Order: sequence, then C-alpha cells, then structure tokens
Amino acid sequence: MKILFLNGPNLNLLGQREPDVYGRASLAEIEAKVRQRAGKLGAEIEFLQTNLEGELVAWIQQAKGKFDVVVLNAAAYTHTSIALRDAIVATGVPTIEIHLSNIHAREEFRHKSLIAPVCRGQILGFGSNSYVLAVEAAVNVNER
Ligand code: DQA
Repeated sequence: MKILFLNGPNLNLLGQREPDVYGRASLAEIEAKVRQRAGKLGAEIEFLQTNLEGELVAWIQQAKGKFDVVVLNAAAYTHTSIALRDAIVATGVPTIEIHLSNIHAREEFRHKSLIAPVCRGQILGFGSNSYVLAVEAAVNVNER
C-alpha cells in the first residue's frame, strides 16, 4: 500500500501560521507522525508540499499507477480549483480530502469544497491528527 500525501499553499508555514487555527506542529513534525503510523500499518508514504496549483495537478496525474491512494490537503485551492477536481477524476486514484481545521465552522467561503464530490471522503477538524486519521482511512480505502 503506497500513499501519497499532498499539501497545498501555505502549509509549509505550519507551526508559525495562525497557531490558534492550525496548531503548533510544523509540517515536518506532522510528516513524522504520519510516517510513524504508516510504519505500524505497513504502508509506504511519500509526503510533498507546494504553493503552486499546477504542481499539485501534476503530482495527482503522476500518482496513477504509482500510488494506491492520494491524501490531499489542497489548502485554499480546496475552495477554488476546478483543475484539481478534474485531475482527481482524470486519474481515478482514490483520493481522501483532509484539513486541519473544521472548514464548516469557519468563514462561509471555506464551507464549499470543489474537490469533496470527487473524493472518497473527508477528514477535517482534528488538527494534525487529521493527517494520522487519514493514514488509517487510506489503508482501508476499499472497505465499505
Ligand atoms: C486548510 C483549510 C483551508 O480553508 C485553508 O485555506 C488552509 C488550510 C486546513 O487544513 O484547515 O490553508 O486546508
């Protein structure tokens, strides 16, 4: 089981960025927690971050045939990107949407996710634990 974790814009600033909303853990610390959990569940992880929408699109495209699941925190692109949604549909790799914060409890413009309808499910609102829970969800993605 190979899982690709993709992180969108400004997530490289985790730890310093709005800690009341996103917590104090850096992205590297979150990655370490994900790797620990994945190791226990026998899953292999690749963990990437970019501030560029097109790079996320390229990585989703390249996941086909290489990864069993994509776990995607598209950050602000969640709310704007038809390109990401189309890439998820085009590649057909099962994708899990995640967020640190509960986007439904925040500003109205964050309530809408353009990628949600084409993802297997969403995990949100649990801070850095959303990432750890996503490992569990990814490993069991084909179970109903
Ligand atoms: C986020 C939520 C988004 O609305 C926001 O733009 C982010 C982070 C989260 O993980 O809570 O950058 O995806």
